[in-house]
Amino acid sequence: MSEQLAIHDGTPVRSTDQKPWPVWPLSTEEEWEKEIAPSLKSVYLEKREGLPGIQGEAFGQAFAAYSDARYGVIMPHGTDAIAAACAGALDLDGIGEGGEVIIPNYTFIATASAPLSVRCSLALVDIDPVSFTMSPEAVESALTENTVALLPVHLGGHPAEMDALNAIAQKHGLIVIEDCAQAHGAEYNGKKVGSIGHVGAFSFQSSKNLTSGEGGCLLTNDPDIRDRAHAFKDVGRRPGGERWEYPRLGWNYRTSEYLAAILLSRLTNLEDQTKHRNQNAASLTRGLQSLGGLKPPEWHPWVTQHGYHLYMMLYDPEAFGGQSRDTFIRALQAEGIPCTPGYQRPLTDEGGLKTIADKYPHLIRRLPCPHVEYTCEHSVWFTQNILLGSQEDMNDILTAIDKIKTAFSSGI
Ligand SMILES: Cc1ncc(COP(=O)(O)O)c(C=O)c1O
Repeated sequence: MSEQLAIHDGTPVRSTDQKPWPVWPLSTEEEWEKEIAPSLKSVYLEKREGLPGIQGEAFGQAFAAYSDARYGVIMPHGTDAIAAACAGALDLDGIGEGGEVIIPNYTFIATASAPLSVRCSLALVDIDPVSFTMSPEAVESALTENTVALLPVHLGGHPAEMDALNAIAQKHGLIVIEDCAQAHGAEYNGKKVGSIGHVGAFSFQSSKNLTSGEGGCLLTNDPDIRDRAHAFKDVGRRPGGERWEYPRLGWNYRTSEYLAAILLSRLTNLEDQTKHRNQNAASLTRGLQSLGGLKPPEWHPWVTQHGYHLYMMLYDPEAFGGQSRDTFIRALQAEGIPCTPGYQRPLTDEGGLKTIADKYPHLIRRLPCPHVEYTCEHSVWFTQNILLGSQEDMNDILTAIDKIKTAFSSGI
């Protein structure tokens, strides 16, 4: 006998009023009193809210040290960090044409809009079906004489196949820019992502695993890339240069010192939170493996720590009595388990990019993307805040999935 599902007016596995999920960020009175208030107060009372950007500089260094990189440049957003990474690594001034950048066709829109904003064109390619990150084979078949850079995304926190991508780049004289917006703390063969290619870009937007509401950072080991990225963000200036001297053309993407003060405080929690998410993810994965029907995220051998911005699963309708993925998602939400289908179509089918592709066909090239299409139709995601819950919370998720599977399989 299966239990009545909450979508059919049964009692949900979890009442979110009585047992709310962790809300991100995990702000507390105690953190405010001990950490955030004193650091904001010192920025305020010492009257150093902007230039010369001492806290911003300190955060860049601290985040670079955490992420195994030499240099960090704080930015207002992840999108700007990707644009600065393109400008810095490809030596672009934003006026001349930048060349073609290869990106995955399964990612957030900023992976596309940022290179376009510095006058690069795009080739959008298929993903690897295990990690949902850019497929090196798909990259190889997209290369042309116009290709200047590869822009893999460590999607959901699973590092892309960097050795293979770096090898392709080296062979063809290309730059590798890592989109790490979803991969704070993720490790590739024991090294944090962000400087495994030439340059990496992070986001601290409000959903991200380290956040200041909005924010970003660029990482690199190359001092020339750092200097050009700095110029991009600070009206063309050199780091430590004269105030009224602009050796390059640049824009104003400087950040308020309040942003850096918050990030410096919260950075100290990132590693513990990443470990907590990994523990809960491991427990969910064991449970899902024994339930069947929802394929848990798989790790490639090079992953030594997952970032778990997202816990990305694939739904098998046959194991759920032929019910659609969207019906399953509605049923799981009704049981009190927040989940989402994630990206619903290849980026090239999204209105914004489609319009640009129709208007300026020379700027957007879509390669065959069967794995992207399959993933868009079958994926189910939990977001990172869910993984900050307790073991009991993970058990509730498994109980709800089991309940739905039993009901759907018996035709209810
Ligand atoms: C993969 C990816 N790239 C880039 C970004 C852009 O970051 P931001 O929103 O901080 O501009 C995001 C997130 O928003 C993202 O998920």
